[in-house]
Amino acid sequence: MVASLEETLVVIKPDGVSRNLTGEILSRIEAKGYQLVDIRLIHADRELLASHYAEHEGKPFYEPLIEFMQSGPVVAIRVSGHRVIEGFRTLAGTTDPTTAAPGTIRGDLGRDWGLPVQHNLVHGSDSPETAQRELSLWFS
Ligand code: RTP
Ligand code: MG
Repeated sequence: MVASLEETLVVIKPDGVSRNLTGEILSRIEAKGYQLVDIRLIHADRELLASHYAEHEGKPFYEPLIEFMQSGPVVAIRVSGHRVIEGFRTLAGTTDPTTAAPGTIRGDLGRDWGLPVQHNLVHGSDSPETAQRELSLWFS
């Protein structure tokens, strides 16, 4: 029996890159046992981000989010493993870094900086459909 392959898109956001946490975050993904399949350092443009975050258009944090994600380079990673979508979301922790559980990336390394949008270090796809859509966007 071969375990079914699943892939997810992880993005280390500009705060993670500028705080020199790229290695720490990659190390947590690797230590968990997932495989890094592809990796790119990208300065994302508005078009890519608008497509990536289309579901949030119109929300109060949308414009600050797009600006934040364009504020510096990000690291996009294609990660594979059985149940990796759910597994990485668990590693990342909940959206608000103040209350994200200790032991998670956001809980251990993130905090609230009092800004209009949460700077929470990482993005992870939230479903198989989203993962496929996001991977084709970031690794086209
Ligand atoms: P992500 O998509 O980045 O993996 O994060 P998520 O699923 O945990 O959160 P989501 O609801 O999809 O929101 C996307 C990103 O927008 C920022 N956000 N800030 N109230 C706020 O200040 C707020 N709400 C959302 C965060 O950067 C969040 O990760
Ligand atoms: Mg999300």
